[in-house]
Amino acid sequence: MPETATALAPTSPLSDRLLAMTEPATIAMVKKARELMAKGIDVINLSFGEPDFQTPQYIKDAAKQALDDGYTFYTPVPGIPELRQVICEKFKRDNQLDFQPNQIVVSTGAKQALANAVLSLVNPGDEVIVFSPYWVSYEEMVKLAEGVTVTLRGTLANEYKVTAAQLEAAITPRTKLVMYSSPCNPTGAVFSREELGAIAEVLARYPQVYALADEIYEYINFVGEHASLAHFAEVADRVITVNGFSKGYAMTGWRLGYLAARPDIAAACEKMQSQITSGTCSITQRAGVAALRGGRASADEMVAAYRRRRDLVLGIVKDIPGFKTPTPSGAFYIFPEVSAYFGRTAPDGSTINNALDLAMFLLNDARVSAVSGDAFGAPECIRFSTAAADEKLVEAFGRIKASLAKL
Ligand SMILES: Cc1ncc(COP(=O)(O)O)c(C=O)c1O
Repeated sequence: MPETATALAPTSPLSDRLLAMTEPATIAMVKKARELMAKGIDVINLSFGEPDFQTPQYIKDAAKQALDDGYTFYTPVPGIPELRQVICEKFKRDNQLDFQPNQIVVSTGAKQALANAVLSLVNPGDEVIVFSPYWVSYEEMVKLAEGVTVTLRGTLANEYKVTAAQLEAAITPRTKLVMYSSPCNPTGAVFSREELGAIAEVLARYPQVYALADEIYEYINFVGEHASLAHFAEVADRVITVNGFSKGYAMTGWRLGYLAARPDIAAACEKMQSQITSGTCSITQRAGVAALRGGRASADEMVAAYRRRRDLVLGIVKDIPGFKTPTPSGAFYIFPEVSAYFGRTAPDGSTINNALDLAMFLLNDARVSAVSGDAFGAPECIRFSTAAADEKLVEAFGRIKASLAKL
């Protein structure tokens, strides 16, 4: 082969877009934990954001019925009419928000709803303000859209919640979108109505800025009130509200989420989805109709367990020196600040330089898997899921405490 041809040969067939992307650290950590488990090592997995409850029976029954009815064909891209209608009813009942079915796009999980919105709104070079700590996929979605992520860090003293003043200071003429989750994964923080009102007041002054409000943990809320940014009339038509069934109805594997937005934005998200996946699973959608018609009683039962587990874990971690853990108001994680351990020496002589080293030490020594805060924009923290049985949590945090005492 002539030399010039060799020089021009590509080193990888993969696109720059793909190569710039990182795998979610949550998934990477679960993989490592599974490898150890496959070797027969008893690992307690607290790295995944997954309810440990079964999907309620009445929802499973609706899916079986859909199969028996032969409901196995393609569905309309933005979701079956019945589901879009009950989602509107849910918004009215739970959030006092008025949407019409043409404002709803049903997707393959809330993840796809978020991706649809980011890819539909963000142009290359647009700035996207992401409240940090943030959910792992936000930054990668912005990258995929060739946008520029601008992270805004909330302070530990304010439960990591970003303030309206911080937001105002970060907005530039290039800002297109603001993204956050409330209740927040990973911190469990919940924005109050007043806090969102102050954020809405800021956004009202910048008509080019849109907001993506991720409310997937809405039902897993220990403080009672769930507030939505879309509630504020001055910004309502620039808010895209994302929600889904994975957390509240323990339906992670069913892949069902949705967004609500202004009709033209919803139509854009539908167009995006039409070329990538089309309508999500027909059977899942019928299960979703049943889930929402059943109200939130099943979710409330799960929330009681999540609250008990949160309190159980907080009771143990308060005695772990060097863990600064805000009390989560929702979701099912604790997110301690652990930098007191950085610079310490492990029994094997290695140094714990950062949260990733600490998470690896806990995996190898305590045999508990957790996720380093790097993945969430907070490299001084570690995320532990509390969605596990009470006795597993007691065992896990007992082991963590014993291992940390060795540093
Ligand atoms: C904050 C947040 N948003 C969205 C999602 C995605 O949810 P789904 O499983 O419906 O795609 C998750 C899942 O972990 C999440 O934690």
